[in-house]
Amino acid sequence: MQHGMLIDPYNRKITSLRISITSQCNLNCFYCHNEGQSRHESQMSAGHIANVIKTAAKLGVTKVKFSGGEPLMRQDFEDILAAMPKFRNVSATTNGILLLKRAATLKSAGLDRVNVSLDTMQPQTYARICQCSENIHRMVLEGIYSAIDAGLTPVKLNMVMLKGINEDELDDMISFARGFDGDVILQIIEPLDFGNYGGSVDMDAIEMDLESRASDVVERKMHRRKKYMVDGAEVEVVRPIDNSRFCANCNRIRLTANGNLKPCLLVNDNLVDISNADIHELETLFYKAVSLREPFYKG
Ligand code: 5AD
Repeated sequence: MQHGMLIDPYNRKITSLRISITSQCNLNCFYCHNEGQSRHESQMSAGHIANVIKTAAKLGVTKVKFSGGEPLMRQDFEDILAAMPKFRNVSATTNGILLLKRAATLKSAGLDRVNVSLDTMQPQTYARICQCSENIHRMVLEGIYSAIDAGLTPVKLNMVMLKGINEDELDDMISFARGFDGDVILQIIEPLDFGNYGGSVDMDAIEMDLESRASDVVERKMHRRKKYMVDGAEVEVVRPIDNSRFCANCNRIRLTANGNLKPCLLVNDNLVDISNADIHELETLFYKAVSLREPFYKG
C-alpha cells in the first residue's frame, strides 16, 4: 500500500474531495443527477465530517467542495465549516436561494467561494427548469449579490446547457457575468443525461463560437477544461461526456450524504461505507476507495 498520497491504479493523484452534506433540496430541477445518489434521510454529523476532512488533508487532499442536495439546507453548515481544519480551497455548490441571509456567516466560518447554479436569466425559464415559482429567480440573483458582497469570490455560475430551453441565452449569461469585474465566472456545463430528457446541445459549436470571440484561451489542469476570455468575461466549459481526457485528469473523490466514499460520480457499485468509521479507520478506507477508482470513459 502506498503511504502519504492517494494515488489510484491509473496513476491519478487525488487532491480534491467533494462532500455532499445532505440529499435534501429546496428545488426539483428536472435534469438533476443528485450527485449520483438516491435521496435519503441520514446524514453525517459535523464532527464526523471534520474527521473525514482531517484524514483527507493528511493524505494530500488540498481542495474541499461541499454540495448536496442543497448544502444550505443544513442549518449547521457554518458549524461544519468551523470544525474543519484550515484549508486553502473550500467551496460550495449551491442553488443560491438561501445565500442572501447566510453569505457573510459562511464566509466568516471559513468558506472561500461558491458555485451558484443559474441556468437562465429568465424567471419563467427558471421556474420551468427548477419546477418552482418564478419569484425564486430573484432570490437567487440576490443570493449572488450577497455572495459577492461577502467576498465568496470568484462566484462561479453553473449553467447547464439545455436543448431548446436556455441555449439561446449564452450571450445574456456572459453579459451578466461580465458586469462583476472578474468576481463572477461563467461555467458552461454539458448535461449528463440521467433522466433521458430531450436531445443534446452542440457543445462543439458553442466552443467554436467562444474560441472565435476569445482574446485568450487557457486549459485548466482540473479535468483539462478550457477557459475563454470573452470581452473581459471569463467562461469555462465543462464537457464530461465521452471525454477520456476529462476522466484521465480527474483528481476528485466524492463522499455521499449518508457517508459512502464514492470513487466516481457515474458508478454506484463500488461505494465504501465510512459512516461508522472512527478516525483511525478512515485512512485505510480512503486507500480502499481510491484503489477502486477507474476512469468511466477510457481513452
Ligand atoms: N448534468 C450536468 N450537471 C449537472 N448538475 C446537476 N445535474 C446535472 C446534470 N444532469 C450540476 C449543475 C448544478 C450542480 C448542483 O450540479 O452544475 O449546478
